[in-house]
Amino acid sequence: MTKPRVLLLKKLPDEAMRIIGAHCEIKAYDEKRIETREGLLELLSDVDGLLQTDVRIDAELLASAPRLRVASNQSVGYNNFDLAAMRERGVAGTHTPYVLDDTVADLVFALLLSAARRVPELDRLVKRGDWGRDGAQAEDHFGIDVHHATIGIIGMGRIGEAIAKRAALGFDMQVLYTNRSRKPRAEEAYGAQRRPLEELLRASDFVVLMTPLTAETRGMIGEAELACMKPTSVFVNASRGPLVDESALVRALTENRIRAAGLDVYAEEPVDPNHPLLRLPNAVTLPHIGSATAKTRYDMAIAAANNLVGGLLGDRDVHLVPE
Ligand code: DGY
Repeated sequence: MTKPRVLLLKKLPDEAMRIIGAHCEIKAYDEKRIETREGLLELLSDVDGLLQTDVRIDAELLASAPRLRVASNQSVGYNNFDLAAMRERGVAGTHTPYVLDDTVADLVFALLLSAARRVPELDRLVKRGDWGRDGAQAEDHFGIDVHHATIGIIGMGRIGEAIAKRAALGFDMQVLYTNRSRKPRAEEAYGAQRRPLEELLRASDFVVLMTPLTAETRGMIGEAELACMKPTSVFVNASRGPLVDESALVRALTENRIRAAGLDVYAEEPVDPNHPLLRLPNAVTLPHIGSATAKTRYDMAIAAANNLVGGLLGDRDVHLVPE
């Protein structure tokens, strides 16, 4: 029996290459990724499977990939999938949930604490020798407390729950959340209270956006939502950039209508180095590294490899994306 042929657009650990290589013919592996969309479409013409992170799988790509049966994302997010086009062509989409929940929740707290305690600003002052009363020690560089504050989590999925756990059990925070359905476990274990979005925004000291990007959620945090937030509040986004109207966020931060933001994601990535967000002292900006620890990225690669092989061979459980 001929092995399915696969295209890999990620540098994978040896074990993931072994899992794939045992069952598939690896057509190409490009560490730098495919430079142009045309080049990618050409490479897809005779493959049965594709492993990558954020390549847009849409009708145009599918038309160039007549044999494609499985698109395996090495990420939990799957907003790069045009699910309707994939369904029509019978292409399965897989992703890597579970293995990254705690790692992303840790990163959310890194952003939240950095923004609250002004870690990057103070780090810069110390490194340029500005330790004193007029510099790093000045009262106007004081931060705000995280412990015993109120956190509002928009989207109480697995990562949201991991954030709620840290907030309630580690920092004695009051947890509010929005979600399509109630989350009794989070309510019981972390005292989380479900609230309508506007109420959550008005009551929270820290607002954390942790919801998938869909047609409904795109742009869900704009001028009106930011206007509901307290002037002392901190906004954190480690889910997807297009959930937020970035111009409105820049205005709110510039005019001190909210206190600070911690961002791991942007409307366009990589973010333009001249983006106004990057010039704001009250915005902590990271390069979409929510899941980027060595162990978690390894686990994600193994999961993506198993999803790819399992999807093609039908011989193991795979994590199909929810429809
Ligand atoms: C994902 O896997 O979708 C996250 O964005 C990782 O940071």
